[in-house]
Amino acid sequence: MHTNCILVTGAAGYIGSHTCIELLEAGYHIISLDNLSNSHSIALQKVQEITGKTFPIIEGDIRDKELLDQLFNNYKIDAVMHFAGLKAVGESVENPLIYYDNNVKGTIELLQAMQRHHVKKLVFSSSATVYGIPKEVPIDETHPLNAINPYGQTKLIIERMLQDIAQADTESRIALLRYFNPIGAHESGKIGENPSGTPNNLMPYITQVAVGKRQELSIFGDDYETVDGTGIRDYIHVVDLAKGHVKALEYLSDYKGIEAFNLGTGKGHTVLELIQTFEKVTGKKIPYKITNRRPGDSAICYANTTKAQQTLHWKAQFNIDKMCQDSWHFQTNNPNGYE
Ligand SMILES: NC(=O)c1ccc[n+]([C@@H]2O[C@H](COP(=O)([O-])OP(=O)(O)OC[C@H]3O[C@@H](n4cnc5c(N)ncnc54)[C@H](O)[C@@H]3O)[C@@H](O)[C@H]2O)c1
Repeated sequence: MHTNCILVTGAAGYIGSHTCIELLEAGYHIISLDNLSNSHSIALQKVQEITGKTFPIIEGDIRDKELLDQLFNNYKIDAVMHFAGLKAVGESVENPLIYYDNNVKGTIELLQAMQRHHVKKLVFSSSATVYGIPKEVPIDETHPLNAINPYGQTKLIIERMLQDIAQADTESRIALLRYFNPIGAHESGKIGENPSGTPNNLMPYITQVAVGKRQELSIFGDDYETVDGTGIRDYIHVVDLAKGHVKALEYLSDYKGIEAFNLGTGKGHTVLELIQTFEKVTGKKIPYKITNRRPGDSAICYANTTKAQQTLHWKAQFNIDKMCQDSWHFQTNNPNGYE
């Protein structure tokens, strides 16, 4: 039994909430911290319902130094899983300072608090976006880093900051998890991706069209060099992704230093393939229109996952049929999100 706690920042969010379940089911004690800027506390109640376990739910901001000190003083925190951050690329282009303030400054506050309280273990939510436009696929962790929008910059700056910290403090234990494209939802249908406003990601858009909330889907470009002209991405089931975090945490108990890991399936699917699979498993038709390419989008992006397989002993299990099924299950159970 683990006696120490894991502080989970951004715990009420899409990936954070799914990871809380996996942590609790693996026997960890957690404390959740979220300012609910892009989430709902109901997600955490559902996590408790699904697992039958309770944990402290703290509503607050990672930039709140006093709150962080209180948490580190009140609980025996062994590690931090850091999901808290803003993630909408378009919004980051329009309002870069909000992103640097929330993501970079927020992470600095968190790291300073960890330093004050001698907490050395960190699992950080990075992103495949740090690779920029891929020079080759599949992308492995040695691919050059080159963020092409402010959101990506914040992830890259944080990665570099963490590299420096690991150099300066050889007791640090840090995993940088570079996510590819998480979709799907917990099998129970109780928690899932619940974007406020217009979804920025493909899957919630598809499910909202399917449920009749939106008229049609826009596909950004059908003239890429791919089998059907639409972009290829590495979609990964959010529960697989969540399990990767538990593996990373286990890895850090015997490892000092910093390592980056791709978390993807290693398989690419086009946008049209994803839509067709969704239609097949749900029996719903998804009307779509083709529009212009989006600046900054790459044609093909998928992961080489060998490092995570060999080092973390982790491999994604679920295919896109299951991802579509579970996304749909969540959407139909919660047609209006958590509200
Ligand atoms: N979903 C993706 O496609 C994807 C891909 C790569 C990386 N990521 C990263 O993974 C992490 C989690 O993503 P997600 O999809 O679950 O997003 P999300 O928006 O659902 O979750 C992020 C959570 O952090 C909270 N938060 C934001 N700023 C905060 C702050 N200053 N203090 C406290 N809480 C704060 C939000 O309220 C939200 O609950 C993010 O860092 C994101 O950048 C996501």
